[in-house]
Amino acid sequence: MKIVVLNGPNLNLLGTREPDIYGCATLADIDLMVFEWGRKEGVKVNTIQSNYEGEIIGAIHEAGKNADGIVINPAAYTHYSFAVYDALKSVYIPAVEVHISNIHAREDFRKNSVTAPASIGIISGFGYRGYIIALNALKDYLERHSE
Ligand code: DQA
Repeated sequence: MKIVVLNGPNLNLLGTREPDIYGCATLADIDLMVFEWGRKEGVKVNTIQSNYEGEIIGAIHEAGKNADGIVINPAAYTHYSFAVYDALKSVYIPAVEVHISNIHAREDFRKNSVTAPASIGIISGFGYRGYIIALNALKDYLERHSE
């Protein structure tokens, strides 16, 4: 099983970016955590972060060719990128959307996710541990749907 973890804009600044909202874990800490999860679970995990919409779309297309599933935190693209939504709909592998913060408990513009309908489910508000919750949920889904 192979899962790609995609992180969108500004998430490279985790650790120093609004720590009261996003916590103190850096993206490197999160990458290490998901690699460790993959090692324990026997899942190959790749991580990609980009501040560019086109690169995220390209990474989704690549995942569609060589991975079984996607965990994606589209960051601000969540709220307006129909292109990221379309990319997720264009590849026939399941995606789980993750948000570190609870997007429903924040500013009104964050309450709507245009990308979420392209995912099998969303994890939002559990901090950086949300990535592990998402990986477990996706692995469980893939195991139940493998034939
Ligand atoms: C975020 C929430 C988004 O609203 C925001 O633009 C982000 C991070 C989160 O992980 O909580 O960059 O996706």
